[in-house]
Amino acid sequence: MRNFLRCLLLLIPMIFAGCHHNADLNFEPPRPAPPPSGWKCSVDTVYFRNSVYPVILTGCARTGCHDQSSHKSGHVLDNYADIYALVNPFIPQQSKLYKLLYSNSAGRMPPDTPLSAEGKSIIYWWIKQGSFNNGCDSTGCDTLNVTWTKSVNPVIQNWCVTCHSGSNPQGGFGLETYDQVVTSANSGRLMGAIRQEPGFSAMPKPGIMKLSPCEINLFAIWIRTGKPQ
Ligand code: HEC
Repeated sequence: MRNFLRCLLLLIPMIFAGCHHNADLNFEPPRPAPPPSGWKCSVDTVYFRNSVYPVILTGCARTGCHDQSSHKSGHVLDNYADIYALVNPFIPQQSKLYKLLYSNSAGRMPPDTPLSAEGKSIIYWWIKQGSFNNGCDSTGCDTLNVTWTKSVNPVIQNWCVTCHSGSNPQGGFGLETYDQVVTSANSGRLMGAIRQEPGFSAMPKPGIMKLSPCEINLFAIWIRTGKPQ
């Protein structure tokens, strides 16, 4: 009985502290937005490679935060193994990665701008579904009738616009429109960058992330066939 009481006394403040600091953790966020039309994989699955990694790359693995050169508080969050080390698969509420997004103390991540509601949903549902290192060729990698709209733009949306967009795009250029991507392709830099050849800046992430061989092939076919829209 005494043990039970002691336990209870210890538990009560813990429960209150937990609720107070992480109120949002008790709510299940809505599912992330459905994938674009033409999506060839499961519409219910939140894929690491397609959804989670881009969110973490822009939200956490930025210069000055958790990329290879900065690694704040020892965390490099630009690869699956290090991201996985911060999750408790199937239990978002017990995953450091997820809890940090909601902390209302100084330790909230990212510290400057909180992650969007969509970003939080993506991380929540990926953990809840088991935190697998899964991915899906977003185009279904159909190499017939390769066009900008059907084949190239979905890959760019997934992998490139997080950095190459807005008024101050990384690398000094955007990849948001057909014309911008054509300009990059015509400069001869695009294929070298995504093939990660020597003499080019490897995209989308040197040594860590590379487009699938089939996705790279889509760009090559698109350029060879005259960059159809
Ligand atoms: C994490 C941010 C980020 C992502 C994601 C990203 N880029 Fe870049 N990109 C950069 C930066 C920064 C540079 C300039 C870096 C440099 O020159 O070393 C750059 C440069 C480039 C260059 C010029 C390379 C050269 O050697 O001249 C091309 C082409 C390019 N990116 C294409 C892409 C494509 C295509 C994707 C998607 C598959 C992509 N980038 C994804 C940040 C990014």
